[in-house]
Amino acid sequence: MEATNPTMANPSLLLESIFILFFLPPCLSCPEYQKQALLQFKSSILAINSSLHTLDSWNSSSSCCQWDNVTCTSPSNSTSTSTSRVVIALHLSNLFAQLYPEFSERMPSILLAPLFFIRSLMVLDISDNSIYGQIPALGFGNLSNLVHLDISQNKFNGSIPPQLFQLRHLRYLDLSHNSLHGSLSPKVGSLQNLRMLNLTSNFLSGVLPQEIGNLTKLQQLSLRFNKFSNGIPSSISYLKELEELKLSHNALSKEIPMNIGNLSNLSILILRNNSLTGGIPSSMQKLS
Ligand SMILES: *[C@@H]1O[C@H](CO)[C@@H](O)[C@H](O)[C@H]1NC(C)=O
Ligand SMILES: *[C@@H]1O[C@H](CO)[C@@H](O)[C@H](O)[C@H]1NC(C)=O
Ligand SMILES: *[C@@H]1O[C@H](CO)[C@@H](O)[C@H](O)[C@H]1NC(C)=O
Ligand SMILES: *[C@@H]1O[C@H](CO)[C@@H](O)[C@H](O)[C@H]1NC(C)=O
Ligand SMILES: *[C@@H]1O[C@H](CO)[C@@H](O)[C@H](O)[C@H]1NC(C)=O
Ligand SMILES: *[C@@H]1O[C@H](CO)[C@@H](O)[C@H](O)[C@H]1NC(C)=O
Ligand SMILES: *[C@@H]1O[C@H](CO)[C@@H](O)[C@H](O)[C@H]1NC(C)=O
Ligand SMILES: *[C@@H]1O[C@H](CO)[C@@H](O)[C@H](O)[C@H]1NC(C)=O
Ligand SMILES: *[C@@H]1O[C@H](CO)[C@@H](O)[C@H](O)[C@H]1NC(C)=O
Ligand SMILES: *[C@@H]1O[C@H](CO)[C@@H](O)[C@H](O)[C@H]1NC(C)=O
Ligand SMILES: *[C@@H]1O[C@H](CO)[C@@H](O)[C@H](O)[C@H]1NC(C)=O
Repeated sequence: MEATNPTMANPSLLLESIFILFFLPPCLSCPEYQKQALLQFKSSILAINSSLHTLDSWNSSSSCCQWDNVTCTSPSNSTSTSTSRVVIALHLSNLFAQLYPEFSERMPSILLAPLFFIRSLMVLDISDNSIYGQIPALGFGNLSNLVHLDISQNKFNGSIPPQLFQLRHLRYLDLSHNSLHGSLSPKVGSLQNLRMLNLTSNFLSGVLPQEIGNLTKLQQLSLRFNKFSNGIPSSISYLKELEELKLSHNALSKEIPMNIGNLSNLSILILRNNSLTGGIPSSMQKLS
């Protein structure tokens, strides 16, 4: 199988492959296009400040599966038609840790572009990097295998692109602590595998869509510190798995939905600093 690998034509790669085959049998390399995408990402980070020491292990002489902050599929999951492992997770939080002040704008969101070629990604954490500009809509739309996306604690502005709501496998979505405007689209209801949604500390406004009630696997929902108005959708009572519901510091009005007591798993409920009216629903007595 290895002998049919086209990279065998290059003698230095042949030596490297022999080394890998005989001394590190389970360690197969990542696809070249994924390695090049990551190296391109690294060089645009270093172009921001060349004295940064970050992603030091990302060099062209090793497989990207050996690099820090990169996770590949395990070798046993390789298919019989390919010797490659693919990149499935990138943990790229706080890349600029050594730079101060930490709250300035560091990185235009366009620098994320190389990462969108790595369509095998399931986990992407780029939180806390002072990334500014719009969320790259088309780019994220391509990452259809994402299960976990954390872009919190950046400086993303503009609205939440509808392409994020096409990522049907998402279980974890953290957009908190950015500068996002606009409303929450009813399309959020398509994220039916979502367990955690955090939109805390943005400038999101408008009505909370009834389609939130479609997110029936949701366990944690935080919309604190935004400008959402109008009522809490009654469909919230469909979220049977919900453990945390945090809606404080918005402009929510009208009455607390009568059936909120149906959320039998609820252990944290924060509604303070809104404009809610009416009484406390008697069903809340059920929230033991
Ligand atoms: C680059 O980072 C170093 C510290 O790592 C800092 O001393 C220097 O001022 C930075 N340069 C720029 C242009 O931000
Ligand atoms: C490349 O990175 C690997 C670890 O991923 C390290 O062992 C090796 O020394 C590095 N090579 C160079 C030239 O920096
Ligand atoms: C790899 O295979 C194992 C067992 O076949 C499976 O449990 C695991 O989820 C697979 N991992 C990936 C990333 O596909
Ligand atoms: C990358 O991985 C290293 C080693 O596991 C860890 O110490 C570091 O915090 C990670 N860096 C980022 C940016 O996640
Ligand atoms: C992602 O997909 C769009 C089409 O929706 C395409 O135009 C774009 O070039 C793709 N970007 C990357 C980085 O793959
Ligand atoms: C986003 O921020 C940039 C500066 O970082 C600004 O030029 C742009 O107008 C802002 N866009 C929106 C939609 O607010
Ligand atoms: C919400 O779920 C209903 C049925 O469960 C479905 O018909 C509808 O298309 C879903 N809405 C969205 C926005 O996904
Ligand atoms: C978003 O909310 C989740 C669930 O409460 C929490 O685990 C996560 O740390 C929050 N994100 C930030 C950036 O605080
Ligand atoms: C509630 O939480 C428990 C454990 O935390 C879990 O077993 C159960 O499936 C959850 N859902 C409901 C509807 O109780
Ligand atoms: C919620 O509980 C009420 C009784 O308090 C019940 O009539 C209603 O059918 C329940 N709704 C859902 C969606 O389970
Ligand atoms: C409530 O929120 C408003 C802004 O919406 C803020 O000015 C005020 O200080 C908050 N009050 C409390 C008690 O947190």
